[in-house]
Amino acid sequence: MRITCIAFALVLAATAQGAAVPNSHVVHEKRESPPSKWVKREKISSSYVLPMRIGLKQRNLDRGHSFLMDVSHPDSPNYAKHWTPEEVIEMFSPTEKTVDAVKEWLIDFGINSDRITHSDNQGWIAFDATTEEAENLLHTEYHIYEHSSTGHVTPACDSYHVPKHIREHVDYITPGIRLLSATKRGGTRPPTKTLPGYFPWSEEGELATCDKAITPACKYALTKQKYPFGKPRSDNSLGIYEEGDYYAQEDLDLFFANFTPYIPHGTHPSPAFIDGAEAPTDTANAGGESDLDFELAYPLIYPQTITLYQTDDLYYATNLNVTSGSFNTLLDALDGSYCTYSAYGETGDDPNLDPVYPDPTPGGYKGKLQCGIYKPTNVISISYGGQESDLPAYYQQRQCNEFMKLGLQGHSIFFASGDDGVAGPPGDDSSNGCLGDNSTIFSPAWPNSCPWVTNVGATKVYPGRTVFEPESAVVDPEGQPYSIAFSSGGGFSNIYPQPDYQKAAVAAFFEKHNPPYPYYEGNSSFGANGGIYNRIGRGYPDVAANGDNIATYNQGNYSSSGGTSASTPIFASIVNRINELRLNTGKNPIGFMNPALYSNPWMLNDITNGTNPGCGTVGFSAVPGWDPVTGLGTPNYPKMLAFFLTLP
Ligand SMILES: *[C@@H]1O[C@H](CO)[C@@H](O)[C@H](O)[C@H]1NC(C)=O
Ligand SMILES: *[C@@H]1O[C@H](CO)[C@@H](O)[C@H](O)[C@H]1NC(C)=O
Ligand SMILES: *[C@@H]1O[C@H](CO)[C@@H](O)[C@H](O)[C@H]1NC(C)=O
Ligand SMILES: *[C@@H]1O[C@H](CO)[C@@H](O)[C@H](O)[C@H]1NC(C)=O
Ligand SMILES: *[C@@H]1O[C@H](CO)[C@@H](O)[C@H](O)[C@H]1NC(C)=O
Repeated sequence: MRITCIAFALVLAATAQGAAVPNSHVVHEKRESPPSKWVKREKISSSYVLPMRIGLKQRNLDRGHSFLMDVSHPDSPNYAKHWTPEEVIEMFSPTEKTVDAVKEWLIDFGINSDRITHSDNQGWIAFDATTEEAENLLHTEYHIYEHSSTGHVTPACDSYHVPKHIREHVDYITPGIRLLSATKRGGTRPPTKTLPGYFPWSEEGELATCDKAITPACKYALTKQKYPFGKPRSDNSLGIYEEGDYYAQEDLDLFFANFTPYIPHGTHPSPAFIDGAEAPTDTANAGGESDLDFELAYPLIYPQTITLYQTDDLYYATNLNVTSGSFNTLLDALDGSYCTYSAYGETGDDPNLDPVYPDPTPGGYKGKLQCGIYKPTNVISISYGGQESDLPAYYQQRQCNEFMKLGLQGHSIFFASGDDGVAGPPGDDSSNGCLGDNSTIFSPAWPNSCPWVTNVGATKVYPGRTVFEPESAVVDPEGQPYSIAFSSGGGFSNIYPQPDYQKAAVAAFFEKHNPPYPYYEGNSSFGANGGIYNRIGRGYPDVAANGDNIATYNQGNYSSSGGTSASTPIFASIVNRINELRLNTGKNPIGFMNPALYSNPWMLNDITNGTNPGCGTVGFSAVPGWDPVTGLGTPNYPKMLAFFLTLP
């Protein structure tokens, strides 16, 4: 009885301005404990207008896995027979019953039907509401949350309620409990060594020093391909994503002049600018990430072209106190069906996290959110991300479903696996970037843990060795004493179980190379018995590529760069090349490639040395077979090409 009284008192306090939550309502989402990096500030004034979005439960998502395997498993008779965008919308849109139930709830509450809009993809219901209305509808209270280091502010609540009979129809509601900021993976480090004289360009000279500087000649040798001489195909541009980081043409030209004289001065990516983004910038402001990505990819794919998906206007993309990139504006632009609105004059898809257009700041983008304006390229390379713990599982699963849909349509999405090993970035969740009361639990990365993307970890050439000898994961505790620049991201998801395509590989890892750490099984037993990783979660990365001591030009100077930011465009470029040759023979692009990789690991160079430290441990170990440090290994272009050309 006592317990009941206390609970009742708390409920009254939480809805002090209104009535207690009626029996007909239940909690839909609730924050368990405040994320350490966000500070709850003042209550939002009752007249402030919030753009409310209700994500509706879609149909057939449980069948997404088998649909995707049907078009991407090499043994399937339907291999590479990808779906059209219309087929995807039709298969997954919510039932009419769901749409009607949610609309009826809103109208009964007093939100007139002319205030309610339903998105093109059928997935969202949207309306503007005063904070007071939203609070009464959801039996909650909205506060300002402020990010303690970046100053981002965002409206959010600690929990909210919906009628019992509505719960099954709703994925999640925004503004709601979510708080999020995404960060770049890597980028340029200060030069650690000066470049020996490579002028003019000489393949032999470079190959002798790949342990000190990875130049294009080193990349050709590592992946066993010659520089490409194909014919550009308009249907095979390589997609590269950037946010808040901009290339400078002068840097690309310096790079071409010094390393790849066969790439003409002035070669640059085709713009696919989203929501007011612009590029390039001037040399003094050139970003390490963008320069690195283009300088790595061009030598591997030229004369194929690159498409630059630069997202969000300068204010949103670079002002740290507004919400920043979470891939939704990219996905909106690539797939109109993902967008909340285009035809109804509504703006953004998530006002908590994503930019809201038109941007009122001087010089901000004055147009509307751009939906479905670009046909996605066959391959997209993304060297940005965050941690699973940054945001609710609902949000991530919804975005993950979109990656599944892009896979069904034949697109390969590559994500950098992160540069903090088994941890998150320091300061994210805790000072060491780890989870749990004592900051000992490994922190899986987002959106990497989504089973429908391909994650790329990073390797290095051993000091004193050549590109013709096996590489190591970037951190090699037994190797020579040199600085640990970064630790290749890897581990096991707390959200997604192991997909079938990797089950045998992960089981073999545990059986033959059991890590010396306690574990838990399923996030419902998070941290139980001192466990520090989820033994049954989706393992990542899937593959790896070189990512250390990368020769770049940035801000007019030679510098050494690295990270999984570097390995990802390398792997993506290799796949882009294979697609080119498949297209040349009348075949479709590869699309989602994990099932083919896991069932044919022989086409990758297995990496068996090195670790990915974090959370006060040495992390996991690279071992023969798949491992959560370097995945299945690095690309061997001739073997991969031969295999994918045998597939239909
Ligand atoms: C961001 O910070 C700047 C400088 O502190 C301030 O002028 C601006 O109003 C802030 N923007 C928002 C949206 O809070
Ligand atoms: C945290 O450390 C303390 C002291 O060593 C220990 O008693 C406690 O059980 C630990 N908590 C967790 C969740 O591991
Ligand atoms: C792995 O590391 C050990 C210790 O540093 C070294 O002796 C060995 O040669 C390495 N193996 C490979 C395949 O590079
Ligand atoms: C996993 O469990 C922990 C502890 O209960 C919780 O903080 C976290 O939000 C959960 N993560 C997911 C993805 O459910
Ligand atoms: C680039 O090099 C010039 C000349 O050595 C130097 O003055 C400048 O500070 C360097 N710029 C950066 C960004 O390191």
